[in-house]
Amino acid sequence: MSAQQDGGSLIQVDEKNRRFLLQIGGGTYAFQVNLEGFLTHLHWGGRVDRMEDLPAPEDVICYRHRHARRSEVARQEYPGWGGEFYGEPALKADFPDGARCALLKYKDFSLQKKCDEKELIVTLKDTGYPLEVRLHYRIYSDTGIVERWSEIDNGGKGTVVLRSALSACWHLPRVDCDYRLSHLAGRWGGEGMINRLPVTQSKIVLENRTGMSGPFAMPFFALDEGGHATEHSGRVWFGSLHWSGNWKMAVERDGYEQVSVCGGIHDFDFSWPLKSGETFKTPVFCGGVSEAGFGGASRMLHDYERRRILPPETRRKPMPLIFNSWASMGIHVNEWKILGLAEKAAAFGAELFVIDDGWQMALGDWQVDRNKFPNGLTPVIKRVKELGMDFGLWVEIESCETNSRLYREHPEWMMTFPGREVYLNTCGDRVSVLLNFARDDVAEHFYQALRGLLRETGIRYLKLDKNYTFVDPGWGEALPEERQTIWIKYVRNLHGIFERLNREFPEVLMENCAGGSSRSDLAMNRYFGRINRSDNQDALDVLRLHEGFTWMHPTRMAGGGCHISKSVNGVNLRRLPMKFQAYVGLMCSLSVGKNLTTCSAEELSEIRSYADLYKRLRHIPQFGDLYRLASHYEHPYAAFEFVTAEKKEALLFVLGHSIQFARKISNFRMMGLDPEAVYEIECFGNNPDPVGYTASVMEYSPVSGRGLMEMGVRVELLGDYDVRILYFKSSMSSFR
Ligand code: DGJ
Repeated sequence: MSAQQDGGSLIQVDEKNRRFLLQIGGGTYAFQVNLEGFLTHLHWGGRVDRMEDLPAPEDVICYRHRHARRSEVARQEYPGWGGEFYGEPALKADFPDGARCALLKYKDFSLQKKCDEKELIVTLKDTGYPLEVRLHYRIYSDTGIVERWSEIDNGGKGTVVLRSALSACWHLPRVDCDYRLSHLAGRWGGEGMINRLPVTQSKIVLENRTGMSGPFAMPFFALDEGGHATEHSGRVWFGSLHWSGNWKMAVERDGYEQVSVCGGIHDFDFSWPLKSGETFKTPVFCGGVSEAGFGGASRMLHDYERRRILPPETRRKPMPLIFNSWASMGIHVNEWKILGLAEKAAAFGAELFVIDDGWQMALGDWQVDRNKFPNGLTPVIKRVKELGMDFGLWVEIESCETNSRLYREHPEWMMTFPGREVYLNTCGDRVSVLLNFARDDVAEHFYQALRGLLRETGIRYLKLDKNYTFVDPGWGEALPEERQTIWIKYVRNLHGIFERLNREFPEVLMENCAGGSSRSDLAMNRYFGRINRSDNQDALDVLRLHEGFTWMHPTRMAGGGCHISKSVNGVNLRRLPMKFQAYVGLMCSLSVGKNLTTCSAEELSEIRSYADLYKRLRHIPQFGDLYRLASHYEHPYAAFEFVTAEKKEALLFVLGHSIQFARKISNFRMMGLDPEAVYEIECFGNNPDPVGYTASVMEYSPVSGRGLMEMGVRVELLGDYDVRILYFKSSMSSFR
């Protein structure tokens, strides 16, 4: 028996019985080689301490069909397509001898340890061809998340063509009820909406085939038994794929009530010629089990991202207060307007000043537009710095305008099918084509361009946009059998650029924009500390957008060009008070997009007050734990609570929009506080209304954490867009 233990995590191996057990935080994951040599899943769920308590692989088989051979319907950890296996295969391949089946049996295992990470690697081998698959399981001492991925080695002489190569298959315990699937789907302006459905005998495919990971679905799943889990209670199995291109998760319930989720890079239009001696590595598919409902699942993911994923430099710092030019002037920026805005932005306390789209000549060339900035960007950057702000820029490197020099000089760099007309994306006056980043020369060219830009300007923030999905993903110059690799090589090269830039410029905060969450996945989060959650900055819509967003990402990443913007929102033409916009933005990474040069003195001083409040309180949402106390899917309000790690401070955001019929909303029962501590409560937004009614003004006296968690706290909202922020600070102990 070998074992590796660290903190709450442990890997145990029973070598004699070829049985493996992973303790991950509060949960357990286990599998074993069955009598026929297949790696068979045993358990994914709550804690099982003793290896001996696990069932034998033969005991978890649940079919009676007399013809079915055990091994092929067994719940394989990584099933190849072949034999009588009819589920979603993790691997499907064409072999040089003409065979198209892969029967993967156990070969051996190894253990690795690096600081506080442990990794189990199990190797499977095809029964007919020297093809091996290494299954990786990585766990950490400080998160309940397991990372899984596979590496496929061609040890033979010929080329194996991979037709599907997923990252991992997750198996759920058999239960006598339907699992409920919760997932995030949507569209531009409505990204990451929460969707739920029962998993009856069927296959449900969650996917994106836009060339990016969104926006129609996000690479995430959650399952709970019979729909019994709530936001705060019950067991939830969940997972997310670290991939920024086409992806697929097949959620399947077979004829034996076995539920599984197999996922990875999409097999649509996929083929990968794996030559002799080559390895194909799949992206990480991470997963976990929460015993505290959907909220618990989010906290586990947030923790994992903050500790393990986000760029190290940016994850430690509070998010700066940003001013961004997009919402007020679109592409119509120039030196004079920007200098005027910069003065005003500094006056309200902005820490980072961003020029969005419009500073450049044609997309592709990445030269400053001298008509707008006759002296280049240098005087602007200098002034912004003198005013005490950092400076940032927008780019969209994957598009190339047809009037650019690049388009004329490198027609072979455009993404298009040979012999077909180039697909032109049109937006306003701009006509552009997507560049083929699968080509190494294209990736290198833009890596050098961005590196030069970062070096020359010394900017501290870079926003990467991408406003178009893939159309005609052709690659004429590639060998015919390699053309479909474009989907994967593109993403790998993109990651490669930002991995290198991150290493060279660790202090630069990068924002992953992609037209708003169109590529907001955990792979991008390794390089980008901020995400444009949506182009839709209608603060009412944000109540739902933010709920879905925080299913995958920490609240500190919720960015975008503006939270505080024009009072009439362009997406829904809804008129919103600035206070409502600001309070919603205060729980995110706040940015201001108002045209400051036309704001009145009162408006500017109002913005200043939100800026001060943000700086005073931001450490709580940005480093604390999130509890979603009330959902806008169910109520005419939403409530988000944040608690610092030591439980000394907490914030409650209550954001209402149409309170009717003299309704008093129920108390909010706080979560995650120190029961023994007494909290002073300060309320923001608790002003008498302008016509003199004072019903909404509440007085708060100190309450213990136990009292707040047991009886809750009262917040009185009235009418439309009424909001409060309650700040809790423990200063003394009630009982000790
Ligand atoms: C879409 C982005 O989401 C916006 O924030 C803005 O940067 C525009 N593109 C610029 O073209």
